[in-house]
Amino acid sequence: KNIVILISGGGSNMAAIVQAAQQQDWAGTLNARVAAVVSNKAEAKGLEFARQQGIATAVLDHKAFASREAFDAQLMAVIDQYQPALVVLAGFMRILTPAFVGHYAGRLVNIHPSLLPAFTGLHTHQRAIDAGCKFAGTTVHQVTAELDVGPILEQAVVPVLPDDTAQTLAARVLVQEHVIYPLAVANWLKSQA
Ligand code: GRF
Repeated sequence: KNIVILISGGGSNMAAIVQAAQQQDWAGTLNARVAAVVSNKAEAKGLEFARQQGIATAVLDHKAFASREAFDAQLMAVIDQYQPALVVLAGFMRILTPAFVGHYAGRLVNIHPSLLPAFTGLHTHQRAIDAGCKFAGTTVHQVTAELDVGPILEQAVVPVLPDDTAQTLAARVLVQEHVIYPLAVANWLKSQA
């Protein structure tokens, strides 16, 4: 089973999944591998890591397309070369069209840095701090047509500490993302076996 991972930046969640796929018996028991990493930004740091791991990479610059629909159509063509059992959004900072989401219905997952359904959208950590939350966290969920909504697969909770900034809270959350995202993907693959 092929997994295709979409990134826009650092790609640390992608790297965590790639590493889990190497360490745990994803190839044997789960019969799964990360087949390709696709970025909408050529400068995304994660691309370098993927290349070093011998994983196929592709860059598709959204600015080169006249519309979101045209970009998504080409993105689907690139992804579908790998006939993925699962498409993983890992810090992919583009809103996807209903056509894209529909095409991958039931095989598209995302990680969002909040305890959904709280704080959909951007700037989740600052908003959690501003709201006086004592806890924050992250959610892996299936992607449906509505942004940051969709069945929850996995969550992790971290404390919000008195001196936290958005940066310190984000760093604490990211550590947990690297735990739950590989776990959620593995569990999803098992459930499909
Ligand atoms: C993660 O916090 C993810 O939840 C959010 O963007 C960040 C991506 O980090 N959507 P990375 O690119 O995986 O390092």
